[in-house]
Amino acid sequence: MKLLITGGAGFIGSNFIHYWTHNHPNDEILNIDSLTYAGNITNLASIKTNKYKFTQVDICDTEEINKIFKDFKPDNVVHFAAETHVDRSLDKPDVFIQTNIFGTYNLLEASLKNNIKRFHHISTDEVFGSLDLDTADKFDEQTSYKPNSPYSASKASSDHLVRSYAESYGLPISITNCSNNFGPYQHPEKFLPRIITNLIDNKNIPLYGDGQNVRDWLYVEDHCRAIESVLLNKSTIGQTYCVGGNYEDISNLDIAKMVLDIFNLDDNKIEFVKDRPGHDIKYAVNWTKINQDLGWKPKYDTYQWLEKTTQWYIENESWWRPLKTEAEQFYAKNNQ
Ligand SMILES: NC(=O)c1ccc[n+]([C@@H]2O[C@H](COP(=O)([O-])OP(=O)(O)OC[C@H]3O[C@@H](n4cnc5c(N)ncnc54)[C@H](O)[C@@H]3O)[C@@H](O)[C@H]2O)c1
Repeated sequence: MKLLITGGAGFIGSNFIHYWTHNHPNDEILNIDSLTYAGNITNLASIKTNKYKFTQVDICDTEEINKIFKDFKPDNVVHFAAETHVDRSLDKPDVFIQTNIFGTYNLLEASLKNNIKRFHHISTDEVFGSLDLDTADKFDEQTSYKPNSPYSASKASSDHLVRSYAESYGLPISITNCSNNFGPYQHPEKFLPRIITNLIDNKNIPLYGDGQNVRDWLYVEDHCRAIESVLLNKSTIGQTYCVGGNYEDISNLDIAKMVLDIFNLDDNKIEFVKDRPGHDIKYAVNWTKINQDLGWKPKYDTYQWLEKTTQWYIENESWWRPLKTEAEQFYAKNNQ
């Protein structure tokens, strides 16, 4: 395969490139990323194979994107690049609209012109909006879209665009809507790395509202395995798959307590802060379809891999320390 990966120097994209170069060493990869504050090329510094290349480019730059498709001639596109932080989308939605919608459009156009065999779009369960706290319902491939933040609305728009390029022009697409990921190389502005790095710094853990918001958690390598199973199976073209974790109904407060337990600390480190607007109360994902069609299921135990992820942040302070300063300035500016 010749894979064009977008956003490969971010959290999930870089984990995916590590995973793919390890498991498919004969495939060629071109990683394109504009390296925003969220992209960090050192994530991939240990990859030495000459089958992997990187080019710094903005997916919104039509001319450059066309040139990349012409020169590299990918057969598969795996599209991770996006603005991804909900809080930043509340502060400055414009770049989310630009990258997540226009950038995706640009890649779809280039894919169409270059007869790509597969355009795989990485999306989120946040496009479905929020479930009631006391419901046993879960999101699945039939759930209607009801995004509540500029981030999730821009991702929902990109999903619709991708789908429309299949329906209108016959572009061979697939989409995965995944729940919250955790693992190495996640920016310390995000919920879990922020908790871990705050505790390393002996600071409190800020939790929005009463901390009862429920999320579905998946170790990032399980997400990479899910994308792999979709990409390697031709019959998945045109399909959408929901991807999620093993544990039922973990609240943000539960996650905070799990991490406190790993650090051997008690709950007085938890600090409840003013809730953010449009904060979804509950996400839960039904991943029956990908399990039945492709045999995928999560492999990694959430608690065990939370411990390993915590250890990774303890051992890689030089990676996150420079990023944390700016992230905390952002939160301070927004009184969080
Ligand atoms: N993190 C999660 O829990 C999660 C869950 C489900 C789906 N997703 C989706 O997975 C994808 C990757 O998420 P992530 O958490 O790794 O994000 P991230 O913020 O860590 O990385 C995003 C990457 O995209 C790059 N990028 C941003 N704008 C760009 C542009 N205009 N041109 C080129 N590159 C650009 C950034 O530099 C960065 O490297 C996103 O599409 C996100 O919506 C994330």
